[in-house]
Amino acid sequence: MAADSETLRQQIRESIKTQKRPTVTVLSSLLAVQDSLGYLPDEAIEEVAAHSKATINEVWGVASFYTNFRFTPPAKHVVEVCWGPTCHLVGATGIIQGLLDEFKLSGEGDTPDGRVTLRYNTCLGACAQGPVMMVDHHLAGRVTPETARAKVKSLGDTNGHR
Ligand code: FES
Repeated sequence: MAADSETLRQQIRESIKTQKRPTVTVLSSLLAVQDSLGYLPDEAIEEVAAHSKATINEVWGVASFYTNFRFTPPAKHVVEVCWGPTCHLVGATGIIQGLLDEFKLSGEGDTPDGRVTLRYNTCLGACAQGPVMMVDHHLAGRVTPETARAKVKSLGDTNGHR
């Protein structure tokens, strides 16, 4: 248990140290940890505080202000769908509805079986390929509601392999 926590802390420190931003702030450090781990454990708040010479309360204040941070580990698979302006114009609403139907969800969050986390994103950085979605960090462009559903259907059968 203690070793696991130390490994986690090392991973957190590494993400804080290697962030590629010109200005390192509490927010940028929290983002770096979330990018690396997919969530912010208590250890992340403590490590960011130590690194930024801020108090736990100050770091927690920043972390809790932004709704994009999560504090529990994400599901095994993460599906992100873009609902930014460009993707919206080319059919993001249909993609989102298709995925919500597939996952039996009414909004973003974890599926009842805990298999998949569905997240909305305001721009996945590939607007020219809209509508865009991402499955476990793999981008897919020009998706349709049907191809989007097909992409996530197999997630339960892969046992972690892609
Ligand atoms: S608006 Fe969807 S990728 Fe940019």
